[in-house]
Amino acid sequence: MTAHEGDLPALDADGLAVVAEEAAGCTRCDLWRDATRTVFGEGPVPSPLLLVGEQPGDKEDEAGRPFVGPAGRILDEALELAGLERAALYVTNAVKHFKWKPRGKRRIHQRPATGEVVACAHWLDREVAAARPAVIVAMGATAVRSLFGAPGTIRELRGEVQESRYGIPTVVTVHPAAVVRLRERDERRAELEALAADLRLAARHAGATG
Ligand code: URA
Repeated sequence: MTAHEGDLPALDADGLAVVAEEAAGCTRCDLWRDATRTVFGEGPVPSPLLLVGEQPGDKEDEAGRPFVGPAGRILDEALELAGLERAALYVTNAVKHFKWKPRGKRRIHQRPATGEVVACAHWLDREVAAARPAVIVAMGATAVRSLFGAPGTIRELRGEVQESRYGIPTVVTVHPAAVVRLRERDERRAELEALAADLRLAARHAGATG
């Protein structure tokens, strides 16, 4: 995977819009076959923080925007708790197509394979080049794999600012969907607050409010 921020071509907002159009026709791996559309990142560029999730889910695949389903609602809650405005941040995913398999009438999420994450790093590299974030937030294991070029344990990497393969300070946290999955109210609240604390850490490190 392409590495350091310094190796990436400089991109402004117009350049990124052209890249997003190219990504709409992406066939770099096979995931485009079953997905409705490419879901590219969104937000201002440059941006002090760049948030990276896993891949679009069912709702995002329909809407064509990242984090608009149940995980997105948790992300919005955590951002609010952290005192951050989503519209001021660049939000994207490591993989831009929804990977799923059918179960009855439902489309069930499948974790992307390493080859799919690597293929999609092409687009993430360009989003990083345009956003030039002070800090990246890696949400969940797939984002960690993409940003560090290797698998890593959230528990081990969390709580301190790490350096990702871009050479940019990176805060590792849980994926918001992990909060959605918690059934017990207190546990869910605690994990939401921990996610918000990680976002606050990222914002402080970036010199943004939060
Ligand atoms: N999960 C993700 O990782 N990204 C989204 O956009 C939605 C759900």
